[in-house]
Amino acid sequence: MKPVLFNNTVLRDGHQSMAATRMTTQQMLPAAPILDEMGFHGLETWGGATIDACLRFLNENPFDRLRALKKAAPKTPQIMLLRGQNIVQYASFPDDVVEAFVRCMCQSGMDVIRIFDALNDVRNLRTAVKAVKQCGKHARGELCYTISPVHTVESFVKLGVELEKMGADSLGIKDMSGILQPQIAYRFVKELKRQTSLPVILHTHDTAGLGAASYLAAIEAGVDCVEVSISPFANGTSQPDTQRMLALLEGHPRCPQFDTKRLAELRNYFEGVYKELAKFTSPANERVDSDILIYQVPGGMLSNFRTQLKEQGMSERFDEVVHEIPVVRAALGWIPLVTPTSQIVGTQAMMNVKFGRWKMICQPAQDIALGRYGATPGPIDPGLLAQVEKQSGKKATTERPADLLEPGMKKYREQCAAKGLADTDEIAVLFAMFPQQVEDLFKPKAAAPPAVPSVSNLPAPAPALLGNGHGAQTLYVTLGGKRHEVFVETLAS
Ligand code: CO
Repeated sequence: MKPVLFNNTVLRDGHQSMAATRMTTQQMLPAAPILDEMGFHGLETWGGATIDACLRFLNENPFDRLRALKKAAPKTPQIMLLRGQNIVQYASFPDDVVEAFVRCMCQSGMDVIRIFDALNDVRNLRTAVKAVKQCGKHARGELCYTISPVHTVESFVKLGVELEKMGADSLGIKDMSGILQPQIAYRFVKELKRQTSLPVILHTHDTAGLGAASYLAAIEAGVDCVEVSISPFANGTSQPDTQRMLALLEGHPRCPQFDTKRLAELRNYFEGVYKELAKFTSPANERVDSDILIYQVPGGMLSNFRTQLKEQGMSERFDEVVHEIPVVRAALGWIPLVTPTSQIVGTQAMMNVKFGRWKMICQPAQDIALGRYGATPGPIDPGLLAQVEKQSGKKATTERPADLLEPGMKKYREQCAAKGLADTDEIAVLFAMFPQQVEDLFKPKAAAPPAVPSVSNLPAPAPALLGNGHGAQTLYVTLGGKRHEVFVETLAS
């Protein structure tokens, strides 16, 4: 039996899940060469919320980070997370922008691209998969795991088969909420291995305490690879810790070999980084939270809620809003909850409670109903659809969303040039997604260009929420009669 492979996520999902995505390149670089020597199958280093965080909070060029990490860890394939047609943002972008983004990151050293769509609409993965293959890199198609009346192991496996036909090089089960239970993980992996010929990777979060057990079940079922992090950027809302997984697998025929002394060194190093990032960490992320199993929503989404409710002066209506989530999900065709749909469903659930059910419908929820994000897993509630069509004057579409968009790169390059920014593809793709941040960061200044922040001058957390909805603060909320201290971070998976 082949040993199971481990990917390590500490440089991406680990700190995104435990420290609000605030680890700086300077904090990563000392660990990168050690991580590179350990024998991990891959290192997740980029994508997800890291690009937003680099530009918004850390004054870093995310492509410089990628190049620096590639130089520091050249041997182990590097992995990133791409939101399909949304790239690393919340809305759909035209195909040429997706292609340019993929080209830029592949040229900067990215090797494995995890591609997902929040609706699991495979049409939203096609352009990215094709672009990655054209660059000669590895396209990993992700299946966003969720629980609903229209989702079964069989329906997910069918998606996996479609992704294989599309040209995906491997399949990832993406359990962003940490709600995949061991017995389901076993069946899911078994069926994917039976019905496709691709390597299967399981990615989970230990939020509800299921992570390590689900990995063990998946390993029994023949999963090729599981994703682990390094404590203290591990466990809780992050991936299970490497040392913990090794201990769990000791004596198992598929237990991999790792130098435990070096793992301990890495752990010690990251203990120090965790302390440096204390402003962004929280005990709430570290503990097992079985509320997740009750509400079946990602941990990050619950913290988003708490922020939004506070902003609206609705903190005491948390339970009501949480119970509205399945109502909104059902009406919107049982979409999975992952960026950006988790934010959209959360906002709409809040509006339903505040103004009365469907009295006001936010624009993105209307767009989901109209098919503008893609095909939903189940049908849109006919009454809701009729209401949205009437209010918006628009008809629902079954076309692939990006087919409705004009090419964008020429326009973005021109806009960059007009603002005195470099009109390279690299700057233009970042500008397409984060215009204000890119302008602030890259605009030529009379003085020296912005310095890469060192550990000592890390930007302080935003004292209050910013107008654009991003920010961070500690809140106290009562949930199910229990008082929680939560660090609220509105950047999500
Ligand atoms: Co994750």
